[in-house]
Amino acid sequence: MSDAVDALRSTLVDVISSAVDRLDNHAELFAPIGPHLGGADGPTPVKGVSRPVVDRWLDAAVENAVTGPDDLRLLVEQFQAAAPELAWKRAYDALASTPELEAYREHYAWVPIAVPISLGYASPYAVDDMLVGFTIQAPNVVYPHHHHEAPELYGVISGAIDWEIGTGPRTTKTAGDVIVHRSFESHSMITLDQPGLTWAAWPSHADSTVYMPSMDPPGTSTEPRVYD
Ligand SMILES: [Fe+2]
Repeated sequence: MSDAVDALRSTLVDVISSAVDRLDNHAELFAPIGPHLGGADGPTPVKGVSRPVVDRWLDAAVENAVTGPDDLRLLVEQFQAAAPELAWKRAYDALASTPELEAYREHYAWVPIAVPISLGYASPYAVDDMLVGFTIQAPNVVYPHHHHEAPELYGVISGAIDWEIGTGPRTTKTAGDVIVHRSFESHSMITLDQPGLTWAAWPSHADSTVYMPSMDPPGTSTEPRVYD
C-alpha cells in the first residue's frame, strides 16, 4: 500500500469535487467523479514508467504550480511524490506515425490514476466505468481537435493553455480553471510558452474511442457533435 499514491488520490478527490462545485453547467454529469474516486479499489502497486516529455517538463510544470491556488500546490507536491509509482502513457498508439502526429504525440503524455481493469492500463486504482488521470503537454504544442462519446472534465494545474471547444472562441486557461467537454464535442488544446499540466476525468464511457479527424485513417473517423 502506497501512502504517497493514497495521499494523491485523497487530494485529487477534493480538487475535483471543488471544481464540480464551481461549475455553472453540467455539474450533475461530473458530480459522481469525486465519490467514485474516493471509493475506488486500491492502491495496487504500479511499476513506474516515464516518458521523454515527462522527464523534460514535469519539474518545470511543478515549479510553475508554486504560484497557483493552494489546493493545486498540494496536489502537485503529492503528484511529484507519487510519480515513481505511476505509469505514464503515450497517446494515440494505434495511429500510424506522421510528422503531424509526432509533433503532438512525442510532446504529450497522460497517466492513469483510476480506470476500469478491462482497459488493461497500469493504474493504482480500479473503478467500474470512469477514467481519471493527469496529462502533460510540452510548451508550444498543438493537441489537434478530437472528440469522444465520454463527457470530459479538465482542470488546469499549471501552465497557460489555449482551449478551443466546439465552435467557440479560443480561450486561454490557467491554474484553477475547469473545462467541460460534452459528449462528442470537439476540443483542441494549444500550450503557450510553459508546459501544461492538468487533471482530467471521464465520468462514464471509459472505453470511448477518441476520434481525431485530422489524423484518423480514412473511413475510421466521425464528425464531432455541435451543440447550440
Ligand atoms: Fe478529450
